Amino acid sequence: MNILVVGGAGYIGAHMAKQLTRQGHAVMVLDNLSTGFRRLARYGSLVEGDLGDAALLDELFSRTSFDGVMHFAANSLVGESVERPDKYYRNNVANTLVLLDRMRHFGVPRFIFSSTAATFGEPDYSPIDEQHPQRPINPYGHSKWMVEQVLKDYASAYGLDSVSLRYFNAAGADPEGELGECHEPETHLIPLTLQAASGRRPDIKVFGRDYGTPDGTCIRDYIHIEDLCTAHALALSALVEGRLSGAQAFNLGNGQGFSVQEVIAVVQKVVAEDGHTLVVKDAPQRPGDPAVLVADAGLARQTLDWQPQFADLETIVRHAWAWEQRQA
Ligand code: UFG
Repeated sequence: MNILVVGGAGYIGAHMAKQLTRQGHAVMVLDNLSTGFRRLARYGSLVEGDLGDAALLDELFSRTSFDGVMHFAANSLVGESVERPDKYYRNNVANTLVLLDRMRHFGVPRFIFSSTAATFGEPDYSPIDEQHPQRPINPYGHSKWMVEQVLKDYASAYGLDSVSLRYFNAAGADPEGELGECHEPETHLIPLTLQAASGRRPDIKVFGRDYGTPDGTCIRDYIHIEDLCTAHALALSALVEGRLSGAQAFNLGNGQGFSVQEVIAVVQKVVAEDGHTLVVKDAPQRPGDPAVLVADAGLARQTLDWQPQFADLETIVRHAWAWEQRQA
């Protein structure tokens, strides 16, 4: 198949481009490199440009008949979204509408969309299934939820088939060590902790020990990047084969939560094998962090026949550590 990976120079998109290429698909990556990295765009042909550039999209869609588009290009910092909602609504919503409209014009039939646990807001219950109400509590979550709603309406009105995948905490790295997590600035727990272990940062700060959880730190559901990408590939196949149609949405996680303290302990164990230690400091809660976010991904397992291969947190951390050691 011909697949356009929008945001394919970012952490998740780059792993996706590799997996699709390995499966024999022809991948084109569109990325404006605002938060992506040329060195991550190792698979597929890279077109440097913006998803909101209608003329560029017209050129790409008239040159290649794509079987589907996977859309990973978004701003994803919750705190920044509160301070600069215009950026989030413009890039994550308005630019996505440009992409969808050009797809419609050229008859590109399928769309896989990166959504997020942030569309649920503060959960009423855990684990979170697809029935859980979606009440985002920040502009980032709102922007993703808006696109999910657009996709429902585009399915009914224009016949666009789509799957929205709501990630919990994407983590880990390419098991072959070629690709890994890369953000500027980095805000995520596992890469920051590993950077503290490799000496690229002085310490890791635990944001709050006063949550209503067993050890007082926040609990998250970490999902290996490779498993996350596999779910996207399965979702696209299900659309192509007609097993799924309309606008579908699935939660993606392992269904098991780990506290910040537990994650740090696993990192400490893994890095100690290479003679590394790290300094852990306490810090106040980060505004907007729910205490517990754990996915019920039963629907994705059943419907997509998705079976995570790297659900073990230690494996996730080992792969991320191998990547971090190549960065230091
Ligand atoms: N944390 C720390 N110290 C740090 C960084 C993070 O204690 O230096 C804690 C956070 O408070 C949180 C946990 O580690 O409890 C995980 O934080 P991450 O930033 O790694 O991930 P989030 O759960 O905040 O973010 C993820 C996605 C976002 C999405 C969000 C939804 O990465 O895109 O879930 O809540 F918006």
